[in-house]
Amino acid sequence: MIVLGVESSCDETSVSVTQDGKTILSNVVFSQITTHQAFGGVVPEVASREHIKKMTVVFEEALQKAKITAKDIDLVAVTKGPGLIGSLLVGINGAKAFAFANDIPIIGVHHIAGHIYANQIESTMEFPLIALVVSGGHTELILMKDHYSFEKLGETQDDAVGEAYDKIARVLELGYPGGPAIDELAHTKAPTYAMPRIQTKGDYDFSYSGLKSHVINLVNTLKMKKEPIDKAGLASAFQQAAVKHLIDKSLKAVEDTHAKMFIVAGGVSANKHLRSEVEAHFTHVKTSVPPFAYCTDNAAMMGIAGYYQYQKNPVSDSMRINGHSRLNLE
Ligand code: KG4
Ligand code: ZN
Repeated sequence: MIVLGVESSCDETSVSVTQDGKTILSNVVFSQITTHQAFGGVVPEVASREHIKKMTVVFEEALQKAKITAKDIDLVAVTKGPGLIGSLLVGINGAKAFAFANDIPIIGVHHIAGHIYANQIESTMEFPLIALVVSGGHTELILMKDHYSFEKLGETQDDAVGEAYDKIARVLELGYPGGPAIDELAHTKAPTYAMPRIQTKGDYDFSYSGLKSHVINLVNTLKMKKEPIDKAGLASAFQQAAVKHLIDKSLKAVEDTHAKMFIVAGGVSANKHLRSEVEAHFTHVKTSVPPFAYCTDNAAMMGIAGYYQYQKNPVSDSMRINGHSRLNLE
């Protein structure tokens, strides 16, 4: 089964062609990062306009690179949410027009399902599994007892981990997006500042606002006193605390559910420290993190998730799909 995937929920315009929920025939990603860098973060209105400019070109390139034509495609899978509504609608309308013109079934797919299924590219899911979802908007633990079955065990009570990375990078003047910049800097030095202990209500919940505020206040105080800031030592201290919180909660979830596998999904899964800590702490179960290039937003993961969604429920959403800025995975 050949699936055309479309993703435009934030600042990446992406179209892919994937086969049988595994093989990637093409995955074209146009990133708007350089456009948004001038503003220090994604500007929704600018993002929608950039998607409009690039969508058709990215569609054509994805088909060309896969060396196929529209008649070879069995299914169109497009991100329906959550995300920036204006951005989502560009991808959805492009996907609808393509599906309608070529008489192909079309389904709307949850963005986080896509991130989770990026793990199917180089690995094979074994159930029950625990998925740690870590992105700019999400920090949650999901239990999957089978393909395309999602039970949320817990989530962040305030900020997402990626959001904390981005905001701290901004006060440290490391640019946008902040995650990769902090990750790089943190690897150059050991922690030189103490971080607060993170407390949460539930066993599987997360909290990043306390840690984030602590770091921001520290930086502002040092700036006010005109004292030097050890950026690398601070990045390292923050990263160790942030990742430890993810690992501790995930270990508990894996243990309590007797999961056979632990996987990580979302943009923050590109984090080098998180990847090495997963390797070090989860030796008792099978683990997977997506290939580096498929950690952040891309259409291949949407096509793969779409394949499994359609296996479970082979019904076309036809022209009914709408965009949703917020959307429940369960
Ligand atoms: O999944 P994603 O591409 O978009 C959302 O769906 O949110 O994730 C983007 C997030 C940003 O917050 C970015 O700073 C973070 O992932 N990120 C990282 C790294 N690479 C991307 N965070 C920490 N370390 C990284 N290496
Ligand atoms: Zn994402």
